[in-house]
Amino acid sequence: MIDFNRRIIAPSILAADWSRLADEVRRAEASGADWLHLDVMDGHFVDNISFGPSFVSQIRPHTSLPLDVHLMLEHPDHYVPRFVAAGANHITVHVEADHDPAATLKQIREAGCRPGLALSPDTDFQKVVPYLAEIDILLVMTVRPGFGGQPFMEKETMPHVANAKRLREEHGLAFHIEVDGGIDSSTVHVAAKHGANVMVAGTSLFGAPDMGAAIATQRQTRM
Ligand code: DX5
Ligand code: ZN
Repeated sequence: MIDFNRRIIAPSILAADWSRLADEVRRAEASGADWLHLDVMDGHFVDNISFGPSFVSQIRPHTSLPLDVHLMLEHPDHYVPRFVAAGANHITVHVEADHDPAATLKQIREAGCRPGLALSPDTDFQKVVPYLAEIDILLVMTVRPGFGGQPFMEKETMPHVANAKRLREEHGLAFHIEVDGGIDSSTVHVAAKHGANVMVAGTSLFGAPDMGAAIATQRQTRM
C-alpha cells in the first residue's frame, strides 16, 4: 500500500547547471531528493528543446534515485524504447500528444517502467479519466509545459488535483499525484492541501543557496 501522505520531492534537472551535470545530480541526491525529474522537450509538442536519451543515460551512473522522465513529445510512443534503454524508471507521457495513450502506457509497463500520464493546465480533466486505472503517476502540470521558472497556476490546476484525489478514493486506485511547475516553499503546501504527494521543483531547488534546506522545507507537512 502506498502512503500518499508521504511527500516525495523530485528536483527537476532542467534548472541545474548542465556544464557540471554529474555534480548537480549528486548534489540533488545528497540534499535529500527522492526522485530526479527529467524534462524531455522536442520543439514540437512544446516550444522548447531540452535533451534526449543520451543525456538520460549519462545521468544514470551518477545516482541511484529513480529517474522520473517527463516526455513532452508529439510522438512519445516512438521514443519510449530509447528512454527505457537509457535507464528511466518512470516514463510520463502527455494525454494531449499524438498517440494512443492506452497503448503507450501499456508499452511503458511491459518494458518494466512505471507509466505516468500528464495533463496540461488547459486540458479537460475528463481526458485522463479513462486511463486512471492503468497508471502509477498522474502528472498535473501546474504551468503550461515548456519552460522552468513560470508562476504556479493555482486556479486552473488545483481542480485537476482535487478531481484526481476524489476519483482515486472513489475507485480504490493507487496512482501518485505529481505536480510540476512553479513549486516553491509556499505553493507546495497549496498543492499538498488539494491532494498532490509528488512535488517537482526546478528553480526553487537548484537555485536555492542550500538545496538541502530547501528540500527539507518543501517536505514539511503543513496542510
Ligand atoms: C516545465 C517542466 C518542469 C520545470 C519546472 O515544462 O515540466 O518540470 O522544470 O520548473 P520550475 O520548478 O522552475 O517551475
Ligand atoms: Zn516536468
